[in-house]
Parts: sequence; C-alpha cells; structure tokens
Amino acid sequence: MQPRSARITGWGYYAPDRILTNADLSTLVDTSDEWIQSRTGIRERRVAAPWESTATLASVAARRALAVADLDPAEIDMILVATVTPDYAFPSTAALVKEAIGASRAAAMDVGAACSGWVYALTSAHAYVISGMYRTVLVVGAEALSRVCDFTDRNTCVLFGDGAGSVVLQASQEVGGGLLGFELTVDPSGAYNIWIPAGGNRNPVTGDTLERRGHFIRMDGRETYRYATRTLARSALTAIERAGLTADDISLFVPHQANIRIIESVAKQLGLSMERVYVNVDRYGNTSAASVPIALSEAVERGRVHPGDRLVFVAFGAGYTSGAAVLEWTADPSASSRAAAVGPDVSIHQPGDWVADDPTPVALRPFFAAREVSA
Ligand code: ACO
Repeated sequence: MQPRSARITGWGYYAPDRILTNADLSTLVDTSDEWIQSRTGIRERRVAAPWESTATLASVAARRALAVADLDPAEIDMILVATVTPDYAFPSTAALVKEAIGASRAAAMDVGAACSGWVYALTSAHAYVISGMYRTVLVVGAEALSRVCDFTDRNTCVLFGDGAGSVVLQASQEVGGGLLGFELTVDPSGAYNIWIPAGGNRNPVTGDTLERRGHFIRMDGRETYRYATRTLARSALTAIERAGLTADDISLFVPHQANIRIIESVAKQLGLSMERVYVNVDRYGNTSAASVPIALSEAVERGRVHPGDRLVFVAFGAGYTSGAAVLEWTADPSASSRAAAVGPDVSIHQPGDWVADDPTPVALRPFFAAREVSA
C-alpha cells in the first residue's frame, strides 16, 4: 500500500568522551579561548578515541535511533550515511555500519554533500519512503573531522569536532507529519573555498602532497561566512514557503552548528528569537554532516520538541552546498530515554593483516594520554 507520510520514529546521537578545549588548542596554535568563543561560540569539541572511527560513531548513533524506534535492525531497508570523513574511499561507511548494527536486509550507501549531507540524505530517504520503494530508512550523519584537521592551522583546527547523529524514517498510513517542504542547492563557485586538496584521485598521496599538508582541511573562512549568512535564511524561507507556512509557524529552528554568529544572523533574518533556535555549537563545534542530527536528537531528549511542532533543519557546507527541510514532528519525545540503554561499544571487523597505528592526530595525543592516566 502506498504510504501517506514518512515520519521520524527514532533518533539518537553519540559524541566521543574525549574533550578538546580551547585552552588545549591555544598550546598548539596562536589562539585563545577568548578569540575562539567570541568569534565562533565554541568552548570545546569531542575527539574520537583510537579504537573509534566514523563508522563506529555512526553505528552507536544508529543503534540508539533503533532503540528509540523500538525496531529490529532486520527491518531496515536502506542505510544512508552522510559523511566527508569516511573510514575508507571504499567500502562505504554505510556498508560498515550495516555490519555493526546487524541490519541483515538493508541496502547501504554514503551521501556526500559535506555539512549539508544529512539534510540531503533526509530528503532522499523521504523520497524512497513516499514513493513506496522502501518502508524504513536509517539516516545517519557521522564525522571524525579531528583526523583531517591541520593542528598547525589556527584558521581551521579550532572549528571542528567528531560525533554522529541518526534518525529512522518510516512509512505511515496516517496523513500529515514528516517532511513538508525542502530546498537543496549547490553553488560550485565556492567549490575550492573549503576542501581537502590531496588524497583523492586528482592529487593522490605522494611525498609532495604530504609535505604540503594537502590531506588536511583548507578553508577561506571569510568567504564561507559570507556565503552562509547570504544563503541559509533564503534556503530556509524557500523550504518554509514550499511547506505552505511562514517563519511564525516554526517552533524550533535546528541549524548546522558551525558558528554562533552565523546562527544568530540567520535567526535575525528569519525574525526568530533565539529561544526558538537550538544551539549546541559551544559543546561540539562543527561536526559537519553530524551536526544537525546531533542537535535534533539532543533537542528532543531535552524536551524542546513536541508532537505537532514544525521544525526547520538548515545546513551549508563545502561545495558550496546548502539544504533546508521543514518537518512536522509526530513521535513521542519520551521514547528518547530508550537510547540510554545503548552503550558506545560496537565491533566492525578489520582484515587481520592490516595493523593500523593510533589514528589520533599526533599533536592531540599528549592531552588525552595525561587525562586518561589520571582518570
Ligand atoms: N585564533 C586567533 N586568530 C585567528 C584564528 C584563531 N583561531 N583564526 C583566524 N584568526 C585571525 C585571522 O588570521 C585574521 O587575522 P588577520 O586579520 O591578521 O589576517 C583575524 O583572525 C580575523 O580573521 P577573519 O577570517 O576575519 O575572522 P572571522 O571573524 O571571520 O572568524 C571564522 C573566522 C570563525 C573562521 C569565520 O570566518 C567563520 O566561521 N567562517 C565560516 C566557517 C565555516 O562555517 N565553515 C564550515 C564549513 S565546514 C565543511 O563543509 C566541512
């Protein structure tokens, strides 16, 4: 039977235990807690442990979302993992997540649209479900950005963090609820304003690319800031209009957590007071594709979302991509408590002949070694 709506029935997030503070970073590059907080709103960010990867972070968030939805993993038809920091060029991170969560039947693939990736993946999941092609889609955003940050570059290394968030989108025979409108854009004129030059097939790994630190994030912060403040409110308004609503109808705005000044500027352009905006950039920094689903899951867990609420998700990122989606919330928020039973351990097998080093950036290891010994 053709579904009448596609609804979020599960949600969950995971942020690694290791915390990297602004004070830590100010011992590595010429910066300060005062500068980082006043220019970005970030106080600290999380860093994946040596045994963690984007796929393990994603799998913990996915399991939590499944627990909230009270769903057997075998019921998942499709797994979408939005990420710019996949474990490998291939296999896909989604394939590894499938193994870790025991989703025996699911198809699985990654989605690449940088920080907008989860919004892109959510709209794709909606299309799968509404078309009748799949009934249950897991939509994950997950990143281990600490592993592609250059901890000698103060322009970028203070901004990013690791984490994962996930939702389950399911077919429903009830009318209403779910995605009401969306807008996805790409402006390739900014394609090289946030990028990782080397490690792909255009500039494969060589001694020269390593020496030029080409495997790390490079960014024109000022240009990206301008793009974000120009684009986000317009994308959000287009999605809101397509939903047949106005900004006044929005209960909670859940933006990509890149910079508090960008969030405040967009809220102002939309005429939304900050009480109607969810913010956690202070605790996680920019977790790219994981940012919106972490914020959403935390907002639901903290009692900020109620059935009937209209939410707006909006994100921008490398590409330049942007995505906005308006969603009517239908689930019981108290189901959040079921996520607590799911611990952070998952196992994803690796070939025995590949003995990997600790992937934690060398510059960060002393902070955690000292804390983990004293704990
Ligand atoms: N500490 C101290 N000083 C710094 C730091 C730092 N961490 N970083 C930059 N500065 C300096 C700059 O070098 C510059 O110095 P100069 O004037 O001597 O050249 C000065 O601060 C001001 O630089 P601006 O770029 O004008 O600073 P701004 O107030 O714009 O803040 C920031 C910089 C935070 C990067 C801001 O531009 C921003 O948030 N841009 C958007 C970035 C973003 O959201 N990227 C998301 C993409 S993620 C993805 O898709 C993977």
